[in-house]
Amino acid sequence: MALWGGRFETKPDELFKLFNDSLPVDAALALQDIDGSIAWAKAIHRAGVLSADELARLTAALTKLRSEIADHPTLPLKDPDEDIHSWVERRLIEAVGDLGKKLHTGRSRNDQVATDFRLYVRAEIDARFAELKDARRALIDLADRTKTVVTSGYTHLQRAQPILFAHWALAYQEMLERDAARFADARKRVNVCPLGSGALAGTTYQVNREQIAKDLGFDAPTRNSLDATSDRDFVIETLAAASNCAIHLSRLAEDLILFASQEFGVVEMHDSVSSGSSLMPQKKNPDACELIRGKCGRIFGALATMSMTVKGLPLAYNKDLQEDKEPLIDAMRQLSMCLRVLVRVLDTLKVRESRARDTALDGYANATELADYLVAKGIPFREAHDVVGKLVRVAITKQVRLEDLSIDEMRSVDARVDNAVYQSLALEAGLKRREIAGGTGPGAVAAAIAASRQRLASSA
Ligand code: ARG
Repeated sequence: MALWGGRFETKPDELFKLFNDSLPVDAALALQDIDGSIAWAKAIHRAGVLSADELARLTAALTKLRSEIADHPTLPLKDPDEDIHSWVERRLIEAVGDLGKKLHTGRSRNDQVATDFRLYVRAEIDARFAELKDARRALIDLADRTKTVVTSGYTHLQRAQPILFAHWALAYQEMLERDAARFADARKRVNVCPLGSGALAGTTYQVNREQIAKDLGFDAPTRNSLDATSDRDFVIETLAAASNCAIHLSRLAEDLILFASQEFGVVEMHDSVSSGSSLMPQKKNPDACELIRGKCGRIFGALATMSMTVKGLPLAYNKDLQEDKEPLIDAMRQLSMCLRVLVRVLDTLKVRESRARDTALDGYANATELADYLVAKGIPFREAHDVVGKLVRVAITKQVRLEDLSIDEMRSVDARVDNAVYQSLALEAGLKRREIAGGTGPGAVAAAIAASRQRLASSA
């Protein structure tokens, strides 16, 4: 059933109808459309438009339709209606007759769709909270399992200084914690209710907008009807939070892909989250992480799509805005999958302790410790840096580690070196010296694990 047509002489062109209809996409908002409709029915009942009996009949029919859709979410897809609003209204009229035609009194699809979509985005954000929480839990658990595993930290992807593997895991937990905070912040501005804004200028019926907002779990009604029906910055903001999260996940995925390569060999991904090659029998590919890395493009693409859709739109509603749903729905679905798959990757991840240790031992990652040792002997840091650089060159030429150079070899570079140097070169010694809040010292990391767990437990 079309919601309009009275003023038209001809039926829509077939291709145009295909172009214009949004049901294949906005069918995903069926439950929200019904919830919004029930709240609207109550509102116009309170405003004197519907009798108590009419309200009861409408609400009963809408509730029945709701449970039908909850059981069969794809139900609307087989019908030729223009959008989910037309579909719900048609089904309502089929159920209660002419009374169904009263529901749209004082409402426009413009305030209706903005309300539906805010309800949808809010539910999606809440679902991401739960998934982010589980991903953070998995990272903290991984940190717990690897709090004694020493590995190399990198800058410029060159071995830099030894760190605990746990410290690496906790870095990503920090990122995901901020992502959750960004979603929470976006949610505040998502959670306002446009109903009562009408098509653009506000409804003519004296509905209680505070009460409608409350009925739908919104914090407040929107304040300007032109803005409420036509802005989608709540979508842009949510997609920005999603993109930031996807960017973090892509970095995490890339680290794991590198660590799992034969060249690093520091982690092994479980068979259950890896794929094989159709040609090369020996291959075990980190497809789960590659897809997590790859989805980032698509999720960020949704942010770009939405930003460009709203750019330059004249006030108020324009049909361009119908393009808001597909990117958001897809981006949130993909982000959800990424987070859930990541949890499986992390929970089954094997960290190869001795190989990790070798990466820390082999890359002259203790060179900074040696410089600090010289500084402690009163040598200015710049000079110490130069001496250690020379010692590293000697070690590279001899193809040995710094600690494998004899004391004579060291003293030939700088006579101030003595036997105590070897203690400073031990991996654990270097870590212990980083017992600073936020550092990779074992005590600092243990405290960080405990603090992260506590914040996780108290987060929404
Ligand atoms: N399908 C439309 C959308 O998603 C619903 C609003 C249509 N409003 C209108 N005046 N044509 O934006």
